[in-house]
Amino acid sequence: MSAELRNAFIKAQKEGRNALVTFMTAYFPSPEDSIPILFALQEGGADVIELGIPFSDPIADGPTIQAANTKAIENGCTVNKCLELLKDARSQGLTVPVVLMGYYNPILKYGEEELVKAAKAAGANGFIVVDLPPEEAVKFRNICKSQGLSYIPLVAPVTTDERLEVLSRIADSFIYVVSRMGTTGAGVSISDSVGDLVDRVRKFSGNTPLAVGFGVSTREHYLNVGKHSDGVVIGSKIINIAEQADDKPKAIKEFVQSILNGEGENTNSGAAISADVKEDNLEFAENHKHSPNFGSYGGQYVPESLHACLRELEQAFEDAIADPTFWEEFNSLYDYIGRPSTLHTADRLTEYAGGAKIWLKREDLNHTGSHKINNALAQVLLAKRLGKKNIIAETGAGQHGVATATACAKFGLSCTVYMGAEDVRRQALNVFRMRILGANVIAVQNGTKTLRDATSEAFRSWVSNLSTTYYVVGSAIGPHPYPTLVRTFQSVIGNEIKTQFAAKNSGKLPNLVIACVGGGSNSTGTFKAFEKDTEVKLLGCEAGGSGVDTKYHSATLTVGVPGVFHGVKTYVIQSEDGQVHDTHSVSAGLDYPGVGPELAAWKDSGRVDFIAVTDEEALEGFRLLSQYEGIIPALESSHAIYGAVQAAKKMSKDEHIVITVSGRGDKDVQSVAEVLPELGPKIGWDLRFESGEDASK
Ligand SMILES: Cc1ncc(COP(=O)(O)O)c(C=O)c1O
Repeated sequence: MSAELRNAFIKAQKEGRNALVTFMTAYFPSPEDSIPILFALQEGGADVIELGIPFSDPIADGPTIQAANTKAIENGCTVNKCLELLKDARSQGLTVPVVLMGYYNPILKYGEEELVKAAKAAGANGFIVVDLPPEEAVKFRNICKSQGLSYIPLVAPVTTDERLEVLSRIADSFIYVVSRMGTTGAGVSISDSVGDLVDRVRKFSGNTPLAVGFGVSTREHYLNVGKHSDGVVIGSKIINIAEQADDKPKAIKEFVQSILNGEGENTNSGAAISADVKEDNLEFAENHKHSPNFGSYGGQYVPESLHACLRELEQAFEDAIADPTFWEEFNSLYDYIGRPSTLHTADRLTEYAGGAKIWLKREDLNHTGSHKINNALAQVLLAKRLGKKNIIAETGAGQHGVATATACAKFGLSCTVYMGAEDVRRQALNVFRMRILGANVIAVQNGTKTLRDATSEAFRSWVSNLSTTYYVVGSAIGPHPYPTLVRTFQSVIGNEIKTQFAAKNSGKLPNLVIACVGGGSNSTGTFKAFEKDTEVKLLGCEAGGSGVDTKYHSATLTVGVPGVFHGVKTYVIQSEDGQVHDTHSVSAGLDYPGVGPELAAWKDSGRVDFIAVTDEEALEGFRLLSQYEGIIPALESSHAIYGAVQAAKKMSKDEHIVITVSGRGDKDVQSVAEVLPELGPKIGWDLRFESGEDASK
């Protein structure tokens, strides 16, 4: 099967031209269009077809392919449907080699070995997996090889020599060379440096054919790129035609013909292509000072273009935390933040619960109103060390956006915050705060218009502007080093709790420590200090939304299953087919279908317990802290408060619970007013004036 792919390149070279590799998303624009489009590509003369298996969160792709993915999923496309489609096409006479192209999560969910076998039975020749790091690619390639299928690695302008070496060795048919940094998309021009890039790759790849893609959309591009390569890939342009043309197969066939037969001379690079398929067994592991893994979670599941940014960040992080001057500078900001934040008892809440003594760690008193400022300032200091002047961030509730905008204002850096359009609406006050602070807020209209889409968009922006941009991730999520980095800077919370609690309790430790869980920055930052003190119980409170037996929740650790999302292996709320689900929570900051990998490992080891607290219960927690302690908490923190009150009831009066109050609730007043008519009656809370007028208006 891999030989057939290799032969497609040999045949094109014999004909004195570049092989044309075309891309099409399955079930786009409709299920019925797919087979006629595959035949149109074949009849037009395509040498290889990449058939896209859609994924809900394609971070390596630009708007065109992202929209095609969304549409295909809406059209009911599943991995099995892609395979059936290919099988049907083969039975009707499709002979062109077909490579299945997709993201890792649906493959993992299906089962790698089962999928490769099923793909072979359906008539596929190989796989391209956009976000598979070399360590995993080596294993997946061996599965493909055992079934006679090919694995096609992707290499990017920033791929290191070390990785080029290993990726070249696992390439048994051809290598896909990503011509530029950024995401897929039909381009207007092709980077001048393609020749240099191809030359560099060839030093490692020898006589394995190279196909260059990203941004190719015209005959002129095909000819220019083709001077250096053995094959040229066209994707987004074909998707555009499929979307716009009335007679789609006709328009696509004519386009492919115009690429292959138009004006101008087509010169193949002329590099020797070997007909032999490599038989190479190898393993690959990169050195990291801090392990990228937490048990079986973590890692760096990112498109190759992002790898260099992560490597640079990892180095900067390692250097910084080993440098006392970095910590001096960070500590000097404690006055600005208001650290240490206080730890004190909640006497009336304790009395209300009637059990263990409840203590509050007041991260809500930090400058900007939440724990997010600790991490934002530390990362902006890292950005300064790297000489990056443009800061980008994603935000859900807006607290991380506000914290990052604040840090940028303080250090004179430009700040762009990506925020889902739905969150922009829910958190209007924080949007305004960010803009007052001088940040540019971009409302992301893709997908569910929430934090996950904002995060995908921030990754895309980062990879397109790597040299000038630093991405301040707001939670302990994403690829290594972010989970370790964010937890390191947030550990100030748990370290302070430990010292403060001991000082007020004759050197003792609390019995239970509780934090709310979104991505995991306040919880990992709170729990880390107690990880080895096994007598201290740790409890994470997730967003149970309307209930974990409904579709409307964000209780990732409670009901999710292991998968790969936003660059990291962790628990993910996903469908049977590996598509990431929409989530819901009354608190925008917990509304995320993934979770930090360290929390995933703690769940599996049993070190931390997790519970899901519903919207209604969180509102109860919100009311309790407001009315018993005079502290209006963030809705996120309200989940932990509810969890703590329930736990306190079951504990004795001589035991102690510490809750991290991660943020203050001013930002949520509008949201609470909106949900009160529905949720208020369930907890007996009515804030309307007697006349029946709504007090919120
Ligand atoms: C006040 C507050 N608490 C908690 C969270 C959840 O994030 P994490 O789990 O990273 O602490 C957020 C997120 O925006 C927040 O604003």
